[in-house]
Amino acid sequence: MAATDRRAGSGGRLVAGLDLGSTKTCAVIAEIVGDLPRAPIAKILGVGLAKNTGVRRGMVRDIDETTRSVAAALKDAERMAGVRVSDVTCGIAGEHVSARGSSGIVAVSGEEINAQDVARVNEVARAVSLGRDHELLHDIPQEYIVDQQRGISDPVGMTGTRLEVEMYLVTVQATAAQNLRKSVQRAGYRVADLVLEPLAASYAVLTDDEKELGVALVEVGGSSTGVAVFHEGKIRHLASLKYAGAHVTSDLVQGLGVTQADAERLKERHGAAYTPLVDAGEMVSLPSTPGQGARQASRELVAHIIHQRVDEIFDLVAREFDRAGYGGGRLPAGVVLTGGTAHLPGMVELAREAFAVPVRAGQPELGISGLTDSVQAPRYAVPVGLVLYAARKAAGGAAPGVLLGGARLDRLFGPVKRWLQDFF
Ligand SMILES: Nc1ncnc2c1ncn2[C@@H]1O[C@H](COP(=O)(O)OP(=O)(O)OP(=O)(O)O)[C@@H](O)[C@H]1O
Ligand SMILES: [Mg+2]
Repeated sequence: MAATDRRAGSGGRLVAGLDLGSTKTCAVIAEIVGDLPRAPIAKILGVGLAKNTGVRRGMVRDIDETTRSVAAALKDAERMAGVRVSDVTCGIAGEHVSARGSSGIVAVSGEEINAQDVARVNEVARAVSLGRDHELLHDIPQEYIVDQQRGISDPVGMTGTRLEVEMYLVTVQATAAQNLRKSVQRAGYRVADLVLEPLAASYAVLTDDEKELGVALVEVGGSSTGVAVFHEGKIRHLASLKYAGAHVTSDLVQGLGVTQADAERLKERHGAAYTPLVDAGEMVSLPSTPGQGARQASRELVAHIIHQRVDEIFDLVAREFDRAGYGGGRLPAGVVLTGGTAHLPGMVELAREAFAVPVRAGQPELGISGLTDSVQAPRYAVPVGLVLYAARKAAGGAAPGVLLGGARLDRLFGPVKRWLQDFF
């Protein structure tokens, strides 16, 4: 199909999400439809996937390889959609991300609280030292407090003398963000926004009720596992752990004496993360060298190796729940699993045992239409979440070209903050 000249980010109604992972780059292009501005729907038009070996645990290690991969994934998505895009909303993750609470307090200028008061108090909460080499990624107002009355989401129009805000600030290493932008720019696109990956995934798979009750999103990818805990509609904890699917694969390499590529295939075809799911007598043939001769392994052994590693990863995740004050089953809406490794059979069962809460696999369903079949799997939670973020931002009337992140953030005012707050 011939590409049209419709371009996202130039007043059109197209948005693009770009997930740069350690195993692949995934691009999703969507059109904003639905009841605007209140309830935008992302109509999925195209999806593109390309292998990537240039990113490791959320950091670009090889700009040329990443640029190639970004261009390939976006071209594929554009071809499928029959459109061209110029701006992309890009995911970012890794151990370089840090999050903290910050509060602000101001005296109200008039009788009633107005948008300027809110902008001022937000400014105060944001005015903390981010540490050298860090840039602000998200500043999410959690709640406003008017004369000691807590739990206010929009104080404009209220009477009061003292306005406070509790803000959640997420920062990333500036060089990590710059290298990401650089790779995307070299591929011929512009990064409109950077969005933290587990937050992006949460837009695609978590319901408002779950976020209200208490839920954790656990994104188990290739080289890292992202954790985001929500309660009372607010983000409560974020973490990135450096173990994921690649560690499962290398355990199979070690345990079975197969190559990396064979271990990867074996994992995807015969793997299971929960040993009790596998028949004790079932055998799988192992790829072998001429010297090794024909070899077999019990599928139970394969599952056992995977089970052990995933259990360790879940142990680390459980420690994050403890750290956030949500350990020991204190997550009524449970855990939602996303990312490529969530495709392993038995992940949900093992997670139920490890966390002692309800668990489900999260596939993008909320707020999408169009070619939904192409993205309804846990590995697409991040890229679909990115287009949902972009669609809601565009529908919410945020100023075009406004960047959430870096120095420009200081110039943002009330309305932009409010649509961001609507996510939580
Ligand atoms: N069907 C499957 N069964 C088992 N594992 C799978 C399956 N599909 C993908 N994986 C595993 O998922 C991992 C990749 O997941 P994902 O695509 O979420 O990672 P990524 O985004 O590239 O990496 P990261 O986010 O960690 O940088 C790989 O380790 C891969 O082996
Ligand atoms: Mg990923």
